[in-house]
Amino acid sequence: MADYASSLAAQSVLQPSCELPEDTPKVRGYDFNQGVDLPAVLKSYFNTGFQATSFAMAIQEINHMIEKRLEPVEEHEESKFKDSGESFHNSGCTIFLGYTSNLISSGVRESIRYLAEHKMVDVIVTTAGGIEEDLIKCLAHTYLGDFSLPGKELRLRGINRIGNLLVPNNNYCKFEDWLMPILDQMLLEQNTEGTHWTPSKMIHRLGKEINNTDSVCYWAYKNNIPVFSPALTDGSLGDMIYFHTFKNPGLILDIVEDIRRLNSRVVFAKRTGIIILGGGLVKHHIANANLMRNGADYVVYVNTGQEFDGSDSGARPDEAVSWGKIRTDASPVKVYADASLVFPLIVAETFALHHDKLTAGKKTN
Ligand SMILES: NC(=O)c1ccc[n+]([C@@H]2O[C@H](COP(=O)([O-])OP(=O)(O)OC[C@H]3O[C@@H](n4cnc5c(N)ncnc54)[C@H](O)[C@@H]3O)[C@@H](O)[C@H]2O)c1
Repeated sequence: MADYASSLAAQSVLQPSCELPEDTPKVRGYDFNQGVDLPAVLKSYFNTGFQATSFAMAIQEINHMIEKRLEPVEEHEESKFKDSGESFHNSGCTIFLGYTSNLISSGVRESIRYLAEHKMVDVIVTTAGGIEEDLIKCLAHTYLGDFSLPGKELRLRGINRIGNLLVPNNNYCKFEDWLMPILDQMLLEQNTEGTHWTPSKMIHRLGKEINNTDSVCYWAYKNNIPVFSPALTDGSLGDMIYFHTFKNPGLILDIVEDIRRLNSRVVFAKRTGIIILGGGLVKHHIANANLMRNGADYVVYVNTGQEFDGSDSGARPDEAVSWGKIRTDASPVKVYADASLVFPLIVAETFALHHDKLTAGKKTN
């Protein structure tokens, strides 16, 4: 009886394995006996496993986007944008960057500003806070606080909390003082010159007006990178637009022209690469636009969302493959992480690493 038990247990525990293919990567992390070499630590992530491997695959995927973006385009491909009524420069891969508002409140703003400053991405999508927090930071500071600061006390002191960041309410008063005359001027141009304002045109104008090299919107304006934000009223900008309707009514923002503009950038692109930080509107707006060309070619998601609740925020790339928003032959990557932790490192190993190649021959207008 004892023999039977031990032989059954041994057979179960020591069940022989099939051979894995010869080229299966082996797990091995960084050896600090080699000194402190941060790029080598990041390279070792590929063989580390878990989200470290996804992080390294995201770097690889973005470097593919960059490689394709640098490929020359034929003359007939170059002219496609003119057919759509736009006159953008086409490239081997049009790169779409999306990010949630909180990332602009955080120091990820500086990584995004770098990409806009050096024209390393072609189209941006963000939510209202992603626009206004960028502009407000040019007028007053955002501070580090703590996740645990009590809301009631903060409210009494006129301090707003975003995670562990603090934004004094006065910042929004300064924003109102800055914005109202611009809204007056926009309304005047609408009424006297027939200007047809859209969210992206308004963001372009705000980038011009802020005239500050710390700002993502400023560089997007300078480099003619369209910034789409179809729910532009869902934030302080909406509050200001609401107040403005009492003082000086009549301003109209058209989202129809913008959806045509965004989708045209996708339809006429040779290839598309999409980098989406966070979920919600920014994730879906870029993915949905890519349905217009039967899917994006290169895809990186960085978000903390989970799929068990059926949310679009948490959906893995494979769900978007089923909808035709990502190509069936693509190798999309999702990194489950806080973007504030990983995006600056991703930029370091991709766009910043290839800075010279990406900016060769390009000058800001
Ligand atoms: N600073 C702000 O956050 C702010 C300011 C003003 C207005 N708003 C408004 O709030 C609304 C909701 O904001 P939203 O749509 O930009 O995003 P959100 O804050 O609702 O986030 C959407 C999803 O993105 C993911 N995500 C968020 N932060 C992440 C991070 N650091 N790393 C990885 N994944 C992350 C999560 O899965 C989250 O559920 C918008 O309409 C926006 O304009 C936000």
